[in-house]
Amino acid sequence: EKPGLELAVVSVPSYACQRHTPLLHHNTILTDALSILAENAELSENEGRGVAFRRAAALLKSLPQEVRGAEQLRGLPCLGEHSLRVIKEVLEDGVSHEVETTMHSEQFKAMKALTGIFGVGAKTADRWFREGIHNPSNLQRSGHTLNRAQRIGLKYYDELNLPVTKPEAVAIGQIVERAVHAVLPGAEITLIGGFRRGKQTGHDVDFLITHPDEGREEGLMPKVVSWLEAQGFLLYQKTTGNSYLESKEGPARPASNMDRFERCFSIFRLSTDNEGREIQTGDGPQTYSPTLTNTDPHTHSDTHPHSKTDSHPLPQTLVVVGDHAQKVSRVLGHSQCSGPRSWRAVRVDLVVSPYSQFAFALLGWTGSKLFERELRRWAVHEKAMTLSSHALYDRKRMQYLRASSEEEIFAHLGLEYIPPCDRNA
Ligand code: CTP
Ligand code: MN
Ligand code: MN
Ligand code: MN
Repeated sequence: EKPGLELAVVSVPSYACQRHTPLLHHNTILTDALSILAENAELSENEGRGVAFRRAAALLKSLPQEVRGAEQLRGLPCLGEHSLRVIKEVLEDGVSHEVETTMHSEQFKAMKALTGIFGVGAKTADRWFREGIHNPSNLQRSGHTLNRAQRIGLKYYDELNLPVTKPEAVAIGQIVERAVHAVLPGAEITLIGGFRRGKQTGHDVDFLITHPDEGREEGLMPKVVSWLEAQGFLLYQKTTGNSYLESKEGPARPASNMDRFERCFSIFRLSTDNEGREIQTGDGPQTYSPTLTNTDPHTHSDTHPHSKTDSHPLPQTLVVVGDHAQKVSRVLGHSQCSGPRSWRAVRVDLVVSPYSQFAFALLGWTGSKLFERELRRWAVHEKAMTLSSHALYDRKRMQYLRASSEEEIFAHLGLEYIPPCDRNA
């Protein structure tokens, strides 16, 4: 008797937004393999293929147990011919020949290294690769003219590729709060992206900012950025204004999946001390009372997104020890900037939304990217609705559907509510 045959008879819904997908799951060996192929497809600008592998991986992430044999996969959705072939290979031989070949290919390694530079996308990386540039050092020596983002991306290459830890994200959150409250008291700051889904590390830290008095948030970003710059917290920033209202196409038909909020892509200068411990210096606890919204992904009680009931003061000093601290100091010690230093560079995304759009922005910026894509696909194909990070439009009733919480949006869409910690598709 083979274990786990019951998997085949359990019905699994086909949209990732209908399923609970926790961060930790039982099929990492299979999903790691599929993720390599997805990444390779994305780097080759073959989006369709990338999505197919991502959907297959997401399906496996949602299964309640480890898949041990291909017969357990019968009747499951999202598994295309190619993905199934790879899964069978890994189940039978422990590795997939295609995955191994991809992983070790010069092109894949180079594309990963080059797109790992902040400000470099697949198109640029591909052009450079075909010129014989395979890594940041090659690029440095090539004499290519780089834009401001790429120059800073190259300069801080190693540390921007170090994961950002949760304590570092919290420390960044404290700085963001001070900045926002200095220029707009009463504004609310929420940790979004991967950290809201319960990830312990990320490639950046994402925050959503709003204010209960609609309109007060207008023009907020430049003020926040000025404050941060004056305090020396920014190494780089690129702010884009809100283009939602001015848009001629109307909000129901966005030109792309990109939203139009006031937004800032930035690189923060986060203090660390000489021992590699992270310390956030500031005005001191007496002048700073943190109110960062509790978005602990395992707290299912934050039903109202603006709820402050779970708020608690954050520690003023954060100490990061162990493995991560050692990695940080090693990278800083070897950085191209003169000698070891007491701060590291961290990628930070800031988004400002009007209060009435907050729930949509929260849902749209919590991710994962595949979960978001699946929500929009579900909305269009199953409900004749258009979902964006701004609004939900019902095309049959020809009206916008209001929502002040993520729960309400799931309800409008006829979906069971999936908490952030289960959106790791
Ligand atoms: N997002 C978006 N528009 C962008 C960039 C990101 O709407 N131009 C959304 C993504 O859909 C995702 C969220 O913002 O839901 C966070 O994106 P990102 O920081 O890239 O990914 P994370 O899930 O946070 O993963 P990581 O930990 O690697 O940062
Ligand atoms: Mn992120
Ligand atoms: Mn949970
Ligand atoms: Mn981000």
